Amino acid sequence: MKKNEIISGFSKMSRDEKLSLVTALFKNPKEAEKEFLSFHHPDENTQELLSGFSENTISNFPLPYNVAPNFLINGKMFMVPMVIEESSVVAAASYAARFWATQGGFKARVTGTEKVGQLHFLYSGDPDALKITMPHLERFLREKTAPLTAKMEKRGGGILAMELKDFTREVEQFYQLHVTFETMDAMGANFINSCLEAFSEGIQEFFEQTPGFSSADFEPLMAILSNYTPDCMVEVSVSCDVENLKGIASGFSGAEFARRFEQAVKIARADVYRATTHNKGIMNGVDAVILATGNDFRAVEAAAHAYAAQSGRYQSLSRASIENNRFHFTLEMPMAVGTLGGLTSLHPLAAKSMEMLGHPDAKQLMMIAAAAGMANNFAAVRSLVTTGIQAGHMKMHLPNIMRQLQATKEEESRIYEYFKERKVSYQSVTGYLQALRSEKK
Ligand code: MEV
Repeated sequence: MKKNEIISGFSKMSRDEKLSLVTALFKNPKEAEKEFLSFHHPDENTQELLSGFSENTISNFPLPYNVAPNFLINGKMFMVPMVIEESSVVAAASYAARFWATQGGFKARVTGTEKVGQLHFLYSGDPDALKITMPHLERFLREKTAPLTAKMEKRGGGILAMELKDFTREVEQFYQLHVTFETMDAMGANFINSCLEAFSEGIQEFFEQTPGFSSADFEPLMAILSNYTPDCMVEVSVSCDVENLKGIASGFSGAEFARRFEQAVKIARADVYRATTHNKGIMNGVDAVILATGNDFRAVEAAAHAYAAQSGRYQSLSRASIENNRFHFTLEMPMAVGTLGGLTSLHPLAAKSMEMLGHPDAKQLMMIAAAAGMANNFAAVRSLVTTGIQAGHMKMHLPNIMRQLQATKEEESRIYEYFKERKVSYQSVTGYLQALRSEKK
């Protein structure tokens, strides 16, 4: 391949042809090819399935599949699957889940499951006529999409409402058909987008056949769901007597811990820099469950952060308070997930996650993922206001450091022993390992 040469037809090439083009970029193409192929699934059918999820697949990218036990949610115990590579996230979630299981567990509820889709269009006709005809247009569009919505309606979902929004003050001739949907156990992106595209054709037809309108005045621009889902919400909370927080960190009374925790969460509501990191800690748990169940974590992330900024200022998604000697901690966030369709049953490990969770419906999955987010948030803030985050984090990171330093098995056990009660850092481990090695010489 010549420098900066444009490749045509890459997607049509066989996997091996793609691989050889890619590995030509490496210092040792043979070794690179071997490495990529070594991550292929040994079962050809499974590999074909995985490759079929995307395009131009040349290998798989494994991430650890972890389990956090002891999640007591609304009185039911769960083992929660979490796909995440960051050390200490699963340990933190497990720690918090176990603690809250002794205090009655997580109380969760879904407060809404509506999703939104929008048809953005330009209209150069009479604005008043358009507004007046909306009820007729809505009826026409509902009839037109009846074959598309029939199955969803049978499951209890479908189109909930349609609203014409006038944005002509912001953008010349710009209107929007803002539609709310109930998609039940499906995430709903395909259903919503198909309905919206049908609405676009429907408006065209309606204008062609309705006196006083002309389809020439209508220019559809975009038909797409919105990932902002402020009416598809989950709430999870924990609470306990302040005294019960006594054992949570050595050297802190329950009241002292609760006070420091409450302050930390207030800071995350007041300052965007802290709020972003605080919410990242929530998303550590949420995303790990979303990934493990084959859901779209980008959609969940986008909605969470937009919601965190809904007041005009980006704030923490969780709140903490102390009332009458009781500590309360709550998390409220939007979450659009599906347990039907998509990768949830197609991806072999996503299917296993769903089975591990007892085949939850979408609402139950929202509650489980939110509980994981809350567990991680609790554990992170707990560490921050007590020992500091690095102590636990670096302890969990120790195996990675030892691997980087190519420690032998014997060296590893000496290192584990030595750092049981000491602060781990890359430097301190390197120093100790050097000392061990020179002691041997
Ligand atoms: C690290 O992945 C997440 C934390 O930074 C979250 C927080 O600061 O609350 C520990």
